[in-house]
Amino acid sequence: KIVPVVMAGGKGTRLWPLSRTAAAKQFIRFLGEETLLQKTLQRVSDSTIYEQAFVVTNEDFRFLVAEQARELSVKLAGIVLEPEARNTAAAVAAAAVIVADRFGPEALVQILPSDHEIVVDETYRNCVKLAAEAARAGNIVTFGIKPTEPATGYGYIEIGDALSGGAHKVKRFVEKPKQDVAEKMLESGNYVWNSGMFVFEAGQMLRELEGLAPEVLFAVREAVEKTAGDLDFQRLGAEGFSKSPSISIDYAIMEKTPNAAVIPSPITWSDLGSWDAIWKLEEGDENGNVIKGNATLVNTRNSLVISRHDHIAVQGMEGVAVIASEDAVYVGPLDESQKVGDLVKLLASSE
Ligand code: GDD
Ligand code: MG
Repeated sequence: KIVPVVMAGGKGTRLWPLSRTAAAKQFIRFLGEETLLQKTLQRVSDSTIYEQAFVVTNEDFRFLVAEQARELSVKLAGIVLEPEARNTAAAVAAAAVIVADRFGPEALVQILPSDHEIVVDETYRNCVKLAAEAARAGNIVTFGIKPTEPATGYGYIEIGDALSGGAHKVKRFVEKPKQDVAEKMLESGNYVWNSGMFVFEAGQMLRELEGLAPEVLFAVREAVEKTAGDLDFQRLGAEGFSKSPSISIDYAIMEKTPNAAVIPSPITWSDLGSWDAIWKLEEGDENGNVIKGNATLVNTRNSLVISRHDHIAVQGMEGVAVIASEDAVYVGPLDESQKVGDLVKLLASSE
């Protein structure tokens, strides 16, 4: 069986102002009844395939995670708490160390981001099965999504030689390329997007970290040794954890390792990381507008308008995002959605 590890420590700044430090995107009810975290937990609830899930998250989010799991009556293997955000390499390292300790180094781990929409069907299950097989052969396995546009917010994977069982070698992994590079990769037709999910043997990830990001592994090992708390909340030692460089798993391992494989995955997938992604996923009206909450649109097309409270009126706009939370409003072109994170940094520094 596979040990699922859900990463739920991101702040989701590109979805400001609905996504705030106090309630990052994975905990928000954007679409439908469940939050993205809850949908992720449901995705790994099939006990014929999966062990109980771990969630790795920030100390600040512990009650949100516990509460949202309880709402689903999902029993977690543990909620691993980071004393501070050190990005995904440290989160994955903590998971690998903890799973290897508890289940042995050969245990299969599936890392799942908590900010995705995925349709769980036969195709998805089959891809997971193929990934598990490729992971058994010592690979860090990614799921490749057919790209539809030169997005700059994803990792790009160049598909290499076929391995047995439907997997391919990763020839090159390019995390978040510049626009012109993304356009070339899209044109070449040899690249897929990295879905953000990874499957590997715990021990293999530890070897990768040892070779490619030893400072991360060293810091995290110390943090895991100093873990305090019960099974529900496992608090990583703050002193050790703070020594980890803040780097994503994509830059730290995936761009560098020779042991990466990819399963070309025809799954229905969407990273709801930015406003344009949400607009695209939702069924629009006859003008291509997606409207949530209280809003009136006149002579406006291909826009996303969300209001949590006040009535919003929009006139004569095209391709715009208007997002109003209880206490803040964002207005900007949908095609600059990737830059909202920079804007939020600016806001934070001026506060
Ligand atoms: N525990 C923990 N700690 N989780 C974190 C942290 C952290 O410090 N930082 C981010 N996460 C979680 C987020 O909540 C999210 O579920 C997941 O890790 C991925 O982080 P993102 O910040 O959303 O990454 P990204 O979307 O920019 O890029 C990744 O996903 C893309 C696909 O959605 C990369 O893997 C890309 O290569 C990939 O294409
Ligand atoms: Mg993301």
